[in-house]
Amino acid sequence: MIDVKDLTEEQAKAELLSLATEIAKADNAYYQNDDPYLTDAEYDALKHRNFDIEARFPHLVRADSPSKRVGAPLQSAFKKIRHRVPMLSLADIFSEEELVEFVESVRRFLNTDSEIEMTAEPKMDGLSFSARYENGVLVSGATRGDGITGEDITENLKTIAGLPHKVTAPDFPKLIEMRGEVYMSKADFFALNEKNEALHKKPFANPRNAAAGSLRQLDPNITRERKLSLLVYTWGEISEILWTSQSEFLAKAEAWGFPVNPYNKLCRTVADVVQSYETLAQTRADLPYDIDGIVYKVNSLALQNRLGFLTRTPRWAIAHKFPAEKAITRIENIRVQVGRTGALTPVADLEPVNVGGVIVSHATLHNEDEIKRKDIRLGDYVTIQRAGDVIPQVLGVVLEKRPSDSTPYEFPTHCPECGAHAIREEDEAVRRCTGGLSCPAQAIERLKHFVSREAFNIEGLGSKIIEQFFEEGILRKPADIFTLEARNGGDDLFSTAQGLHLENREGWGEKSAANLFQAIRNRRRITLPRFIYALGIRQVGEATSLLIAKNYGSFQNFSSKMQADDVEKLLSIDGIGQAMAKDIVEFFKEEHNLQTLSELLKYVEVEPFEDTTNYASPISGKTVVFTGTLERMTRAEAKAKAAALGAKVAGSVSAHTDYVIVGAEAGSKAKKAQELGVAMLTESEFLELIGKGV
Ligand code: IVH
Repeated sequence: MIDVKDLTEEQAKAELLSLATEIAKADNAYYQNDDPYLTDAEYDALKHRNFDIEARFPHLVRADSPSKRVGAPLQSAFKKIRHRVPMLSLADIFSEEELVEFVESVRRFLNTDSEIEMTAEPKMDGLSFSARYENGVLVSGATRGDGITGEDITENLKTIAGLPHKVTAPDFPKLIEMRGEVYMSKADFFALNEKNEALHKKPFANPRNAAAGSLRQLDPNITRERKLSLLVYTWGEISEILWTSQSEFLAKAEAWGFPVNPYNKLCRTVADVVQSYETLAQTRADLPYDIDGIVYKVNSLALQNRLGFLTRTPRWAIAHKFPAEKAITRIENIRVQVGRTGALTPVADLEPVNVGGVIVSHATLHNEDEIKRKDIRLGDYVTIQRAGDVIPQVLGVVLEKRPSDSTPYEFPTHCPECGAHAIREEDEAVRRCTGGLSCPAQAIERLKHFVSREAFNIEGLGSKIIEQFFEEGILRKPADIFTLEARNGGDDLFSTAQGLHLENREGWGEKSAANLFQAIRNRRRITLPRFIYALGIRQVGEATSLLIAKNYGSFQNFSSKMQADDVEKLLSIDGIGQAMAKDIVEFFKEEHNLQTLSELLKYVEVEPFEDTTNYASPISGKTVVFTGTLERMTRAEAKAKAAALGAKVAGSVSAHTDYVIVGAEAGSKAKKAQELGVAMLTESEFLELIGKGV
């Protein structure tokens, strides 16, 4: 990058334009789509560069300069609202035994043998909100945030049908915060994703994310367009409590005109409590929205008061989470997919089956050995499981239903896409196609990887489009992406070549084509870690790419050392072993890879890497694990932050873990940390530790 003091006026002008575009795009991803793609550090670097150039050339400051935009701090564009009564979370349990134990512990605490009345309420899988009414008028609304401070979403909340803006009932408290959950129904979620797909936008992973993304919109008109729903289930700050139990509150809330879940139940005995779980678990798939468990609350407020609170959770309530959902269905076909590195992955096509409200028609079979181990055959009935967003898994075969004429599955020895030999190297679980880039499946997957979010992050080049463009010969290799715009117009009087004219294709228009070209232009300069990751070298993921960038500084340096077979430094890097080093060196030995690279580097400038890691930070050298849902940053941001401060970010908890940062609804990792006595931090405590607390 040219030093600001050496920039010519011409260069400065051009760069201010590209910075304005780039920052606006990053802002948009962060604020509008809840889907940031830059780390805080990358974003700050852009802002600083913009500031420095503007300081030297004040007369070039643009009308749309990012420095002129008011507010827009990276933390959040929403005003903060402090909850005078904190919004707490609930402890989780996962089994009937734990449920019975919970009721017992309540009894022991209260020193009674009598039955304890409890409400059983579906645990809505959305985002909690708090709506404040003064003299019957809705005056403000907030998200939960970290439980103490939330975001001001008053105007957004007002757009949600069903939430009264005014309540005139004589028994409505003068001051009350009505609290509950904002969610998106399954039907509205599918419709929204379909719409997004048609617009080449990334679909939301699940209704919960869609609800979050829709509610946290700076423009409430966008929230209004998305169909959100809400339910209330508790209250916060209040002038006076005019009821003596939770069930009485729920009845009043309904009478005041608030949406209340019709599946809420009052249980008089432990047997009722257990029964309510069974009943709801069975109804779950038929509900029009996602629930992830049941919340049990001691009904009597007097008893609730006696029971009180643990640090962050009430002793009078608990969340019983549903286990991963299962179903039985038949394997109609076993297909073998070919991945980016030629790995053959078997996938089962299933007779479609409803698993917890989601229709499942495929499941992964992992690899050859897994099929053998479970003896999975065509036509078998199998038990499948779906947990959260992950691809459904086959747990096992229902042998009683196996057809008498069935034969063991034989794994192909040739690539189903290109016919090349598929071989299994010693010690490897996967069989790989040897076709390399002459195998269309591998070439397509490499392109998809190249443009993916963590790599070049080119919006507008989704999987479907890559496949189409590949088949038509429009895109065959990475460099083709960067000549797309030049090839688009093309058909002038002196040339016989016809332009591509993407804007005339079905599903495209002037705007979407222009957006794509802009997105591609924005990526002509790229950070070193992203570039290395984008190459798709076997075993080299994001973390390794970063390590390589840190240790080699520039792509030129890295590539020349690799081509000279100089692996000494590579092997000295903590985190890079023999096998990985071999894959890396082999990549640079392949003629077609070198050709791809040299062609690509004609269009792309790879920034040298500056190590900005803060080795003096309090978490430098520590191993940290994140679990649960974070409220103030995305998981990716949190990880990036920790890494920038010199921490090692691990995926699972072990005795070597120094800190586990526990977000909302954390599961087994938090439990494991507790068992191992590993220090646990809330998100706020973590931010405080690294000096970004409020
Ligand atoms: S009561 C002090 N009731 O679950 C109790 N929460 O793990 C406050 N949730 O943050 C919560 N349905 O977002 C309660 N019927 C229900 C609920 C419910 C969903 C969510 C809520 C809360 C989380 C706690």
